[in-house]
Amino acid sequence: MKTLIRMHSTATISFLFLLTEITLVHPTWPISLDNFTPFGEDNGDISMSSRLDAISDKNNITTAFPFFGRKFTSLYVSSHGVISFEKVFASYRPKRFPLVGNFTIIAPFWADVARRYIGGIFYRQNNSQYLLEVASIDVRKAFPGFSRFSAIWMFVATWEKVPFFGSYNNYHNMTKNITNTFQAVLLTDGRYSFVRLNYHNITWTTGTTSGGNPDNGLGGIEAGCGFNAGFGNHSYNVTFNKYRSIGVLDLPFKTNVNKSGVWMFRTDDITIQEPKRRITDVEEGLSCEF
Ligand SMILES: *[C@@H]1O[C@H](CO)[C@@H](O)[C@H](O)[C@H]1NC(C)=O
Ligand SMILES: *[C@@H]1O[C@H](CO)[C@@H](O)[C@H](O)[C@H]1NC(C)=O
Ligand SMILES: *[C@@H]1O[C@H](CO)[C@@H](O)[C@H](O)[C@H]1NC(C)=O
Ligand SMILES: *[C@@H]1O[C@H](CO)[C@@H](O)[C@H](O)[C@H]1NC(C)=O
Ligand SMILES: *[C@@H]1O[C@H](CO)[C@@H](O)[C@H](O)[C@H]1NC(C)=O
Ligand SMILES: *[C@@H]1O[C@H](CO)[C@@H](O)[C@H](O)[C@H]1NC(C)=O
Ligand SMILES: *[C@@H]1O[C@H](CO)[C@@H](O)[C@H](O)[C@H]1NC(C)=O
Ligand SMILES: *[C@@H]1O[C@H](CO)[C@@H](O)[C@H](O)[C@H]1NC(C)=O
Repeated sequence: MKTLIRMHSTATISFLFLLTEITLVHPTWPISLDNFTPFGEDNGDISMSSRLDAISDKNNITTAFPFFGRKFTSLYVSSHGVISFEKVFASYRPKRFPLVGNFTIIAPFWADVARRYIGGIFYRQNNSQYLLEVASIDVRKAFPGFSRFSAIWMFVATWEKVPFFGSYNNYHNMTKNITNTFQAVLLTDGRYSFVRLNYHNITWTTGTTSGGNPDNGLGGIEAGCGFNAGFGNHSYNVTFNKYRSIGVLDLPFKTNVNKSGVWMFRTDDITIQEPKRRITDVEEGLSCEF
């Protein structure tokens, strides 16, 4: 609500009151699962083990992925909401970037995700021409300077309805299902790279190992979202930077590409780049009301 008011700060006071009431009823909806890159075993995904603290096998990358000025040829998916290059990243307690140590990671939602009895974690690098093109179109729209970008490789990792460690679900007590659903899509044409993060539903921020409340997964040190180069102290904090200061609960309701819950970044360069025309508050939830 606050942000909608800021967006319309030139409007008259009475208009603001009207707007406030309407937005209470009709918030801007996050990206639907239909608009995620298709995922799940039916779409060729590998389904990660439901073991606690699971990490994928090594994925040899068929087209080296440029990231922070270097190229990487293998990656791992960790159940804790992180993709790491070259080596396993096992930490389940989010820390501030830049990280100590040589960890090269993409963190859509680094936290103590613990999917034991509910939820699913999926990933694949084998994607059809069609999906590559669909994803490339969105890159071209968001980054007008890359109007000829055409991905030849894509990696998709999806965390569907994942609960937090310490929640009741970890102890077979199904009284509460507090879960998050998000996705990371890595794209490259061999020279440039882009990462798209999709947030459908973030309802908890913190596992109990980082001080989260076991009843609701809130409080403590919230999940980390961003990119860490693993050398030279380069990193990028998605929720806190010169463009914004938000919490991870806001990720589904904000955007940098005018589509709630969708975030896109250019990631091959030594500095992570946001789209030139960042649009953080989508108006679509409102326009249909008038
Ligand atoms: C990945 O590459 C390494 C050598 O670079 C090889 O030992 C390993 O078997 C490969 N893994 C897969 C799953 O192909
Ligand atoms: C991002 O910045 C916020 C605010 O300083 C901080 O709380 C959070 O830990 C940072 N996240 C990462 C991954 O560095
Ligand atoms: C980082 O990697 C370099 C070379 O691979 C190694 O020499 C160095 O000890 C590593 N540093 C840390 C903190 O792991
Ligand atoms: C990639 O997917 C195609 C069909 O979509 C399939 O024929 C092929 O075997 C898959 N390759 C791998 C390595 O999974
Ligand atoms: C929680 O999820 C489990 C598994 O999907 C389901 O069996 C259970 O009924 C759910 N509980 C509630 C309260 O929705
Ligand atoms: C998100 O999850 C909460 C509870 O975990 C649920 O009430 C809500 O309907 C979900 N929202 C969406 C958009 O799936
Ligand atoms: C690394 O970056 C952080 C914040 O960006 C800064 O506070 C710190 O001094 C830097 N460390 C080095 C060794 O450059
Ligand atoms: C943002 O998206 C909405 C709805 O899709 C559209 O009406 C609006 O023009 C867009 N704003 C900009 C600046 O592109």
